Amino acid sequence: MTRKFTIRDIAQLAGVSIATVSRVLNHKPDVDPQTRERILHIMNVHGFAPDLSAVQLAGSPSRRKLSPLHAFPPDFLWGAATSAYQIEGAVREDGRGPSIWDTFVREPGTTWRGETGDSAADHYHWMLDDVALMKELHLKAYRFSVSWSRVLPQGTGPINTRGLDFYDRLVDALLAQDIRPVATLYHWDLPLALHERGGWLTRETAYAFADYAELLVRRLGDRVSWWVTHNEPWCSAYLGYGIGAHAPGIRDLSSAVLAAHHMLLSHGLAAARIRAHAQIAPHVGITTNLTPIYAADESEATRQGVEHLDILHNRWFLDPLFRGSYPEQLFSNLGVAPPAIETTDMETIATPLDFLGVNYYSRSLIRTPLRTQHYEPVVPVPEASYTQMAWEIYPQGLSDMLLRVQRDYAPPTILITENGAAFEDSWDGRGHVPDKRRVRYLHEHLLELETVLKQGVPICGYFVWSLLDNFEWTDGYSKRFGLIYVDYITQRRIIKESGRWYAAFIKEATGSA
Ligand code: FCB
Repeated sequence: MTRKFTIRDIAQLAGVSIATVSRVLNHKPDVDPQTRERILHIMNVHGFAPDLSAVQLAGSPSRRKLSPLHAFPPDFLWGAATSAYQIEGAVREDGRGPSIWDTFVREPGTTWRGETGDSAADHYHWMLDDVALMKELHLKAYRFSVSWSRVLPQGTGPINTRGLDFYDRLVDALLAQDIRPVATLYHWDLPLALHERGGWLTRETAYAFADYAELLVRRLGDRVSWWVTHNEPWCSAYLGYGIGAHAPGIRDLSSAVLAAHHMLLSHGLAAARIRAHAQIAPHVGITTNLTPIYAADESEATRQGVEHLDILHNRWFLDPLFRGSYPEQLFSNLGVAPPAIETTDMETIATPLDFLGVNYYSRSLIRTPLRTQHYEPVVPVPEASYTQMAWEIYPQGLSDMLLRVQRDYAPPTILITENGAAFEDSWDGRGHVPDKRRVRYLHEHLLELETVLKQGVPICGYFVWSLLDNFEWTDGYSKRFGLIYVDYITQRRIIKESGRWYAAFIKEATGSA
């Protein structure tokens, strides 16, 4: 019987390392085409069929050493992200007005165990401690969101100075520690007063948003240079107005496309106001949640499904932002009429961005079962690992998506504004929260980032979601995403193993003390 060919044999015959062979087997893009060709040819000639588990083991990125010093530029924004409603608490304090999330969470059955963001991680009171923790993690940047109804309780009109002061103090505290503030204007928490006047279904809200942006930039624009207008408008529009899974809980796809249009319009209007009033040169961008869609078979139904889902998840927002038009089939796929679009809207929406924010968590894989015409998701993906959110861990999706964004839209630069994972972390009651799976998740995604950076994709920052455990929307406090564990009973913070790992990584990457 002939001996079975191994990866080592292929590597020897091709004159390359085992790692290179396994990168080819794992479809990594960073092997030069001639070498790839040679390796594949040798495999073919010898009828080599890889043992799947061996491939994954040999190709496992966490066995590769990340070399931050070579790949990542010294001024790279290493950060962590949060959002107002998920961490601040203090929802009735110092004149804050309610938002659509304050009321949505009170409707029966909307959140896990009926939990609310009333207290969250109480960051409103722990802010200085939290900034000190960021310093301990060696963060170079911090992405937070401003609660619109904390600074403008009615959405428009009278300013709540105490609310505005809070963000002013936060920015000063960050700068005092040399941490770059990255401010998001809208992370899903529309002032309730505006919702009662039509919310994102009216153009008025887009105009109100631009005024709100101007107010913030006038107050913070002498110190904040990074501005994200919206966080994941797809979620606000589709989950909030289309299928009612998020606030304000509306289930109507026509409303979703209208809300999305007004959000996009508000982005363009706000971008102009930020640029007009910032005292230091601003970088203006928007954050989209991007989900690469893959086919598990070659059927026509699956191919169409990939196209359909890509339009729904990715192109719905990317096309108007970069090309000034909606994808042709978007509205017919959704079975709705296009929203009312005024003459200059698309031009306003496509106002050039300084950066694109990308949030990446997972991918979607679909197939069409034999003898059917309908595609379906492949769940679970054989051999795959999942996070507690039941999201498949698929680091390669990050590089595939970034390469695609670069090829199809070419933003001037990209910030990874969110990436991270929820696991069932527990605290040992003393100083330790082990979370090796999160370390591995982050490490694997950073390896992908390193790969695409080397391929010339301009990326200037990476933010872990999240700095702290927090209120995970409809999942309440049941999902922990933090680099820092929060004991919600005492609000005590404990840096997790992943937090320590990230701190050491940043230190090495930046040579910081
Ligand atoms: C993103 C949201 C963020 C958080 C993570 C897990 O979609 O922007 O607020 O909930 O998912």
